[in-house]
Amino acid sequence: MDIRLEGLTKTFTGKDKVETIAVNDLTVTIPGGHLVGLLGPSGCGKSTTLFMLAGLHEPTRGRIWFGDEDVTDLPPEKRGIGLVFQNYALYPHMTVYDNIAFPLRNSRSFREKHKDGKERHEAIDQIVQQTAKIVAIEELLARKPSQLSGGQQQRVAIARAIAKQPRVLLLDEPLSNLDARLRIQTREEIRRIQQATGITTVFVTHDQEEAMSITDEIIVMKDGVVQQVDHPQETYIHPANVFVARFLGNPPINMIDASVKDGQVMINGCPAIAADLPDGQYKVGIRPESFILSDDGFTADILTKATIGRDFQVRFDMNGRYSEALIESDKSIEEGDKVHFRLRRSGVHIFDLDEKRIAQW
Ligand SMILES: Nc1ncnc2c1ncn2[C@@H]1O[C@H](COP(=O)(O)OP(=O)(O)OP(=O)(O)O)[C@@H](O)[C@H]1O
Ligand SMILES: [Mg+2]
Repeated sequence: MDIRLEGLTKTFTGKDKVETIAVNDLTVTIPGGHLVGLLGPSGCGKSTTLFMLAGLHEPTRGRIWFGDEDVTDLPPEKRGIGLVFQNYALYPHMTVYDNIAFPLRNSRSFREKHKDGKERHEAIDQIVQQTAKIVAIEELLARKPSQLSGGQQQRVAIARAIAKQPRVLLLDEPLSNLDARLRIQTREEIRRIQQATGITTVFVTHDQEEAMSITDEIIVMKDGVVQQVDHPQETYIHPANVFVARFLGNPPINMIDASVKDGQVMINGCPAIAADLPDGQYKVGIRPESFILSDDGFTADILTKATIGRDFQVRFDMNGRYSEALIESDKSIEEGDKVHFRLRRSGVHIFDLDEKRIAQW
């Protein structure tokens, strides 16, 4: 079941009558069965979008479709959604088992479907056991939340959300309370669980690496406005604009103002790479991994060098701006060296002065 957002807009009006457009004319289709990342910096409208999907915020304008059904005016409990937030919000006095079973016991439709008490009890038990297995917490069902690690608590929260067999799973920064190692482990778990259940899932995060690593598609937002909807790799390889190029990648892309002259991008007064573009000024983004040490090319004075895993990260001046390159550590390069760089074309992105990607590049 696809989810379709059409012109979705949310405006908040503060006490001082000042309006904030949290989400601005968002139109996008989220394909059924996919894991889609909603990515962008703090305040860009991710949670507001998710809350509108959940029915917790009423849109100012626009419609929300779950398949052929317009759910815009449906209350949350009629939408068939599972929600997981950053703070897991488990019931502290209940066991893991009861935490997962609670929404089922309280669901009117579930009670109507299983009228007989004993039969309902058995149906719930079966679902709790199945769900616990999917999220790999079978051994923890008798514990209280306080006796679990953060990652385990988060898996219980996911189990509780999927026990009702929702049509859509909505996750708002579900990993931000976890330490680095557990974050990576739990995000892989979320991917596995999503694939095991096939539930259409929207995963909100401001962490580009997290979004890149587990999603089928990414929606990149800035100031309430969608910037790009694409496969994760595509947003990195073909960023739609300067914002997306800067937001994705670590260390970040180097962005410089450069001119094209006689079919060459000029860097530090030297031709750096061929570009079949009219002469003029452009914004040029160069990924740190796309500098190649060479006998010719433009010159750079190496200012600092640090070892990052298998690479050297070096800093130098490029067109008057400090820039960073990642160089394989089998190369000899030292602080104070004057070197020559060529550029790997795949890591070079050219934008017009309106910051839009130039497609023919
Ligand atoms: N209830 C509210 N009343 C007024 N303004 C709000 C309300 N909720 C959100 N906003 C504003 O709407 C904008 C988007 O907020 P939102 O919570 O959707 O951002 P976000 O992308 O989830 O950010 P974060 O990564 O920090 O969670 C922000 O400018 C925020 O201040
Ligand atoms: Mg948020």
